[in-house]
Amino acid sequence: MLKQAMIGILTEVEADEIYGAFDQIGNIIILRIPDSLLHKRKTIGEVLLDKVKTARSVYCQSSPVEGDFRIRKLELLAGEDKTETEYKEHGCRFKLDVEKTFFSPRLSTERDRIAGLIKEDETIINMFGGVGMFSIVAAKKKKCHVYNIDINPDAARLCSENILLNKLKGTIESIEGDATKIIEERLLETGDRVLMLLPERSDEFLDSAIKAAKKKAIIHYYCHIHAEKKDQVASLAPQHFLSVVNVKSEILGAKIVRPVGPRFYQAVVDAAISK
Ligand SMILES: C[S@@+](CC[C@H](N)C(=O)[O-])C[C@H]1O[C@@H](n2cnc3c(N)ncnc32)[C@H](O)[C@@H]1O
Repeated sequence: MLKQAMIGILTEVEADEIYGAFDQIGNIIILRIPDSLLHKRKTIGEVLLDKVKTARSVYCQSSPVEGDFRIRKLELLAGEDKTETEYKEHGCRFKLDVEKTFFSPRLSTERDRIAGLIKEDETIINMFGGVGMFSIVAAKKKKCHVYNIDINPDAARLCSENILLNKLKGTIESIEGDATKIIEERLLETGDRVLMLLPERSDEFLDSAIKAAKKKAIIHYYCHIHAEKKDQVASLAPQHFLSVVNVKSEILGAKIVRPVGPRFYQAVVDAAISK
């Protein structure tokens, strides 16, 4: 549909370049436009807004995902300048702000995978929980208790709203603050399962994750791995985890979550730890 919408504006090769860098989140479209097409960005935005009937706003990403909050700057190309929207996934509803909070629709499969692994009555510590995506998908699927920590006040506020929106009051607790500090203060030896979705800084927070875990627990450790070949990632990621962890660990599995650059991957290691 995107390609058809762009006939007459972009060549087929140019449309292909945009195609891989296109996300629709609720009624907002976000594009990553290559430098070579920046001069056409407003036209691209206007055409998309006209053709995609469910879109209210079209933005292009004008900075990488950056900073402690893992957020990006957006430039309005067409439509209404409103970055808050509602998004549905796996039978859950989410209010999010695509500029003030981290959000990626590309983690949808991973959210479903984690929810599938959770056992009844587990306590889960989601150290970098954002607006509550992983926590809510998990708690909708399985009877569990989740602590969703995030240092970004907007993410913590939206997580609280999302808990109510999905009727999960009492099941998930949204906590605003630094995960290390919150764990030290009130979550030591609490989690049957700890989620560490801040791949750029996992090593820095691994001690806190271990402190938050019960004597026997599962840690989902996300990291970034350079690999010449894609099929090396499933062994390189656990090798790295085992080189940094300081408690007894059994690797339950490891996989690519998504590619993040040429020969560069976001990966997850599922590990059973005992201490
Ligand atoms: C990659 S995002 C993941 C968000 C969420 N898990 C998701 O998938 O939508 C990482 C999140 O960690 C938060 N964060 C960064 N440093 C933190 C810290 N020290 N303690 C708690 N949260 C932190 C950011 O605000 C951001 O929302």
